[in-house]
Amino acid sequence: MNNTLSRNDPCWCGSDLKYKKCHMKEDLNKTSSTDVSPKASKNNHLCLSSNDQGKMRDACAFNSQLMDYLRDKIDVGVSTNEIDTLVHKYTLDHNHIPACLGYHGFPKTLCTSVNEVICHGIPDDYILKDGDIVNIDLTTVVDGWFGDQSEMFLIGNVSEKAKTLCEVAYESMMKGIEAIRPGEPMANVGIAIEAVAKPLGYGVVRDYQGHGIGRKFHQEPSVPHFKTAESMAFIVEPGMCFTVEPMINEGTHLTVLDRKDGWTVRTKDSLLSAQWEHTLLINNNGAEILTKCKGNPSIFSN
Ligand code: MF3
Ligand code: CO
Ligand code: CO
Repeated sequence: MNNTLSRNDPCWCGSDLKYKKCHMKEDLNKTSSTDVSPKASKNNHLCLSSNDQGKMRDACAFNSQLMDYLRDKIDVGVSTNEIDTLVHKYTLDHNHIPACLGYHGFPKTLCTSVNEVICHGIPDDYILKDGDIVNIDLTTVVDGWFGDQSEMFLIGNVSEKAKTLCEVAYESMMKGIEAIRPGEPMANVGIAIEAVAKPLGYGVVRDYQGHGIGRKFHQEPSVPHFKTAESMAFIVEPGMCFTVEPMINEGTHLTVLDRKDGWTVRTKDSLLSAQWEHTLLINNNGAEILTKCKGNPSIFSN
């Protein structure tokens, strides 16, 4: 049942009719949220067989093991290049493939996005210093399947405002994930994220989104972290895999791409940005987090 739309909202199917004039009755009559006929699906090609779901589980399990390995190595005085070397070595030592390295020409093994960098920061000789916040975004290819996740790290003593931003970004990701229901629109994600971030005056980045993932790094569906007409019309189904990875800005949601390196994305107003990411598998009730770690993110231990 669709519990995110009210009667007078536009219907999730993209018809341009009001919900009450379109799918509302049908949704109310559904016995459960799993009542999605696979035959009626337009997106069967995005739903993995149970064998392939196992492949995604394995890829994501390794990726989160890598995050667990890394967690206590990220600290004041460590350069982002040193983190890159650790991730590269750990991945190769386990006979897996770093997904970012060489991806559309990306030069390193992971993305390290410090302070006002929103995403796709390139590891270099920058040394993490007291008060920094950094996003560590890891992606590995395991036997041809991709696992993708990121976390914020608080370096040394971080200001209250920076810590709060990281906490709210985490909360927005979790609320986005928890709002996912098979048979309901993808827009549940963006609606839930905006409901966390917007009342606090934070900007929700629109230029970069979550994505389908599987045998490819980035594929359908798009997972915007704000409500769009397309995400209202896209119905989530069991067996789909995609990421939720909201980027939450202290100020404006607007972004600037570094023209020199072609990758680094910064906030337009140079204020801070925070991001978290999980890879998900949709089941009959909601979303299962495949990239769950054994250890706790640094925001919960500082
Ligand atoms: N890991 C990023 C994501 O969440 C993508 C990084 S692509 C790279 O989708 F080329 F910048 F590494
Ligand atoms: Co991703
Ligand atoms: Co990622």
